[in-house]
Amino acid sequence: MTQPLLQTSGLQLAFGGLVVADNINFELHPGERLAVIGQNGAGKTTFINICTGFIRPSGGTVSFDGRDVTRLSPRAIVQRGIGRSFQLPQLFLEHTVRECIQLAAAGRTGRLRIWTPLSRAIPATEVDHILELVGLRARADELCSLLPEGQRKLLDIAMALVLQPKLLIMDEPTSGVSTDEKHGLMAIIMRVLDEQKITSIFVEHDVDIVTQYATRVAAWISGRIAADGPPQEVLANPEIRRNVIGE
Ligand SMILES: Nc1ncnc2c1ncn2[C@@H]1O[C@H](COP(=O)(O)OP(=O)(O)OP(=O)(O)O)[C@@H](O)[C@H]1O
Ligand SMILES: [Mg+2]
Repeated sequence: MTQPLLQTSGLQLAFGGLVVADNINFELHPGERLAVIGQNGAGKTTFINICTGFIRPSGGTVSFDGRDVTRLSPRAIVQRGIGRSFQLPQLFLEHTVRECIQLAAAGRTGRLRIWTPLSRAIPATEVDHILELVGLRARADELCSLLPEGQRKLLDIAMALVLQPKLLIMDEPTSGVSTDEKHGLMAIIMRVLDEQKITSIFVEHDVDIVTQYATRVAAWISGRIAADGPPQEVLANPEIRRNVIGE
């Protein structure tokens, strides 16, 4: 077996009396497409926040590519190769689509200073390439606030592609998008990740999407991983059907 790309050991965290990470031991290998499922409040976003440096766990470690990243800042973790997108897209709504990519590049490299033009953050050809990948090139000069939700999700993901991550963690990439549009959105995302050879984790509530796009599923219940394995197996597990899928 290859070395895990991402590994967590004994992650612990509680908010007051609420345990949101309960001894999470987890490994992800290159090439996997992992769906994370779990009811509201199960700790899915918290897990992502810990892995990407937004929250420090009270115990345990996170390793990426063989190195401990537990106490690194979000920016340092992005620079090591973990990109993320957010449950609510974190866009600069008063800016254009192109400027969002430039701002993401500026923030993530830390290279840009207040007096340097934004266009220096990332070469224009690279911006065009990233927008082309997610089908937003034609909208490059439009204001983000004019984009429908599906395209906002794609732009948030495009912003995460700026530093060519090895791993992309997406928090509910299809939430807020109509059922009809979800498959089209996932098809675009997965095509890009395949082309760029990016390993991925995505949080998803829709079982159809999980079945179609994941190679593995991990189910969260109250801050712990209650089941982890091939989609057919996890989705057929009675505890998961009862407590996660809600049957
Ligand atoms: N910063 C915080 N301070 C206190 N409680 C928090 C904080 N962040 C999250 N929580 C609580 O921790 C629990 C887990 O939250 P988390 O966002 O990880 O859930 P989730 O599985 O992503 O849920 P959802 O499907 O609704 O997005 C929830 O009960 C939430 O209210
Ligand atoms: Mg969440």
